[in-house]
Amino acid sequence: MKIKSIHIENFRGYKDRFFEFKDKMNLIVGNNASGKTSLLEALYFCMCGKSFKGRDIDAINFDSFYFKLEMLSEVDDIEYNLFCYVDRNSDKRIMINGKKINRLSELISIFKFVFFDPDTTELIKRQPKLRRRFLDMEVTKLYPYMTKVYSEYQKALLSRNAFLKSYDKKDIIDLYDTQISQLGFLIFQKRQEIINKLSIEAQKVFSYVFENKSMLELKYMPSIVASDKEEYYKEMKKSIDRDFSFGYTTKGVHRDDFEILIDKKSAINFASEGQIKLAAISVVLATSLLYPEPVLILDDVFSELDKFKIRNLVKFISQYQSFVTSAEDLRAFEREGILEIGSANVIFLEKNL
Ligand SMILES: Nc1ncnc2c1ncn2[C@@H]1O[C@H](COP(=O)(O)OP(=O)(O)OP(=O)(O)O)[C@@H](O)[C@H]1O
Ligand SMILES: [Mg+2]
Repeated sequence: MKIKSIHIENFRGYKDRFFEFKDKMNLIVGNNASGKTSLLEALYFCMCGKSFKGRDIDAINFDSFYFKLEMLSEVDDIEYNLFCYVDRNSDKRIMINGKKINRLSELISIFKFVFFDPDTTELIKRQPKLRRRFLDMEVTKLYPYMTKVYSEYQKALLSRNAFLKSYDKKDIIDLYDTQISQLGFLIFQKRQEIINKLSIEAQKVFSYVFENKSMLELKYMPSIVASDKEEYYKEMKKSIDRDFSFGYTTKGVHRDDFEILIDKKSAINFASEGQIKLAAISVVLATSLLYPEPVLILDDVFSELDKFKIRNLVKFISQYQSFVTSAEDLRAFEREGILEIGSANVIFLEKNL
């Protein structure tokens, strides 16, 4: 896919701006608070129907009642005109080529993009919930029909947990168990598949971009391991007494996690800050290898990296259309002959948006 332009109205610090983009690297340069992240957030909003930063209305310019975004893009030779409108009364409209969409998941099936921001390192450092969200996002990007499976699983899980708290009838709960284990097994399989692919690709990025001899691996840590849904069901049943005494479902895909290992050791426990950042970038960039023509949205990806890593990263990024922010003007490195960004579209942002 390719993003051609965006028209931004009253979004964050932007009042009214139009940006045109190139098919290669779009390097967004500007001082702190000049609107670099906000521009990426606007693109992200168009492709996901929500922000990576929090509530929709927080993105409305302080002096305005609404924001509007209009993004022109092309996916598989089809033009998409994406329109978003959000106002302070929580009226939210998203339209593709003039037609209102009913579900945000419609966007996932069209726009394939890879997103990195400084918080992505939390993927390694923080709670399993973040890693599950990351993984499930990749599963749904590759298999959009899985969105429904996740929401049905969530619904069934809530009903089962409510039942566990109020009753002690093991035969009735079987209705939920059958459904949960079928949906759960499907999610388990898809996660396993994505982890296996990502593990191989992340290692490639890690060693190519970062000239790193260390080994990077992703290891799935499911709470139930099974080779078919019947086995998944049986495994789930083993913890039924525990589930009743705790009042919630103690095993299932909602308790899964994955680990990032560097040279077979858990990154969370042993890696340095720099290694964690490199590993997180590698895992995220690895997702770009899952789709034919993704767009890369990378916020502040170069900071803390030495100039040789930046050079390799720029080379990798240049294979795709990308939107990359930097508080530093990388052309200084170009003058030193370290990297080539000649074909990039450099967008300078002034403080006044
Ligand atoms: N709803 C809003 N209305 C108006 N301004 C806002 C709103 N939300 C955030 N801002 C402001 O927008 C400005 C641009 O923020 P942004 O995060 O895009 O900057 P940046 O260029 O990425 O900076 P940095 O280099 O520090 O990451 C900030 O000064 C911020 O306070
Ligand atoms: Mg920023």
